[in-house]
Amino acid sequence: MIPAARIQAAIGILDRILAGDPAEAALLRWSRGSRYAGSGDRAAVRDLVFDSLRRRSSRAALGGALSGRGLMIGMCREEGLALETVFTGEGHAPALLSEEEHAAGREPHAQEALDLPEWLWPQWQEALGPHAEGMALALRERAPVWLRVNPKKSDPATAIAALAAEGVQASIVPAIATALLVEEGARRISASSAYRDGLVELQDLSPQLACAALPATGSVLDYCAGGGGKALAMAARGAGPVSAHDVDAARMADLPERARRAGAKIRLLKPRGIAGRFDLVMTDVPCSGSGTWRRTPDAKWRLQEADLDRLCALQAAILTEAAETVAEGGVLAYMTCSVLTRENSAQIGAFLARDARFTLETEQGYGPEAGFAAGSDGFYLAVLRRR
Ligand SMILES: C[S@@+](CC[C@H](N)C(=O)[O-])C[C@H]1O[C@@H](n2cnc3c(N)ncnc32)[C@H](O)[C@@H]1O
Repeated sequence: MIPAARIQAAIGILDRILAGDPAEAALLRWSRGSRYAGSGDRAAVRDLVFDSLRRRSSRAALGGALSGRGLMIGMCREEGLALETVFTGEGHAPALLSEEEHAAGREPHAQEALDLPEWLWPQWQEALGPHAEGMALALRERAPVWLRVNPKKSDPATAIAALAAEGVQASIVPAIATALLVEEGARRISASSAYRDGLVELQDLSPQLACAALPATGSVLDYCAGGGGKALAMAARGAGPVSAHDVDAARMADLPERARRAGAKIRLLKPRGIAGRFDLVMTDVPCSGSGTWRRTPDAKWRLQEADLDRLCALQAAILTEAAETVAEGGVLAYMTCSVLTRENSAQIGAFLARDARFTLETEQGYGPEAGFAAGSDGFYLAVLRRR
């Protein structure tokens, strides 16, 4: 595909997303109907779509319309691409620009330039204070790829060498010994033997830091396990036995294979089938995902106040349920990939006010704006101890 044809493909996909399709579904649909597109084309179209979703309001202002064409015109103006070389109307390139399209477009105003839903800004400022703008701007950029070295199978130097032999360049970071920052070849990771043999797992820096801050002695329950990333991280640190639970068992479908690859033993519990008490219970609760919007930028624009109300109620219910599974003297670890106060410290404050058995030991926010966790997604951890 020529570059202009990729832009035309992105226009169609963005129009579907703006009409309500989830971004991944719209990309998959295009991919299935475009057998002529090679892997380079698919990656380039994906980048065009995701970059524009990350910068939706600023590019719509620059392009003069919140539409696929408006966003791609805005992208060309932002990146200094001559519109007449892209919008040629020839072959598979986008149609020529109309008079109105030529005339439309302006510099984004201050709020649009942050590319954050306007209604959310007051809460964003309240939560992040002096880091509010920096965090919003960080979410306009692509997210780095992080790996966690599995100490059961490898060490950082060996993992780096094994990855390099298969075209993946990665380096260590000062924040934590097990994390590798991928610098090149991220698309080759899942096919590499380092990944398939369990030397490394894909995991963002912030959950790695959060899991490293938890006690790794005794029994662990990953209460909202999903794909099981945190259960695997705790098993890798030597905690055990480790059990995984999710109200939707299908979310844990890949966990046995991931555990096999990692050489870890994880017991899968049936929904609501938890017996006994655990030394550590992790609740990585459903949340707005506001800390990870670089990776899921369509979610940034989909979130409504009513969704936050619903999510906060669910988080409170999960905390109440999970509290009953914590052994006396044990730890309840509450985690979100959100930066919003409502989902984080306010949620924990309300829980502590209604359950006097627990006290707060530590609470920590992670994110690209937090120096020691530079490059990580936004994340929150509260460590509560049961009497
Ligand atoms: C943020 S995701 C967890 C991601 C996971 N920890 C990981 O590392 O991949 C939240 C999970 O909570 C689950 N969930 C929702 N309500 C629940 C409940 N009442 N009890 C347990 N799990 C629940 C969802 O099915 C979802 O898989």
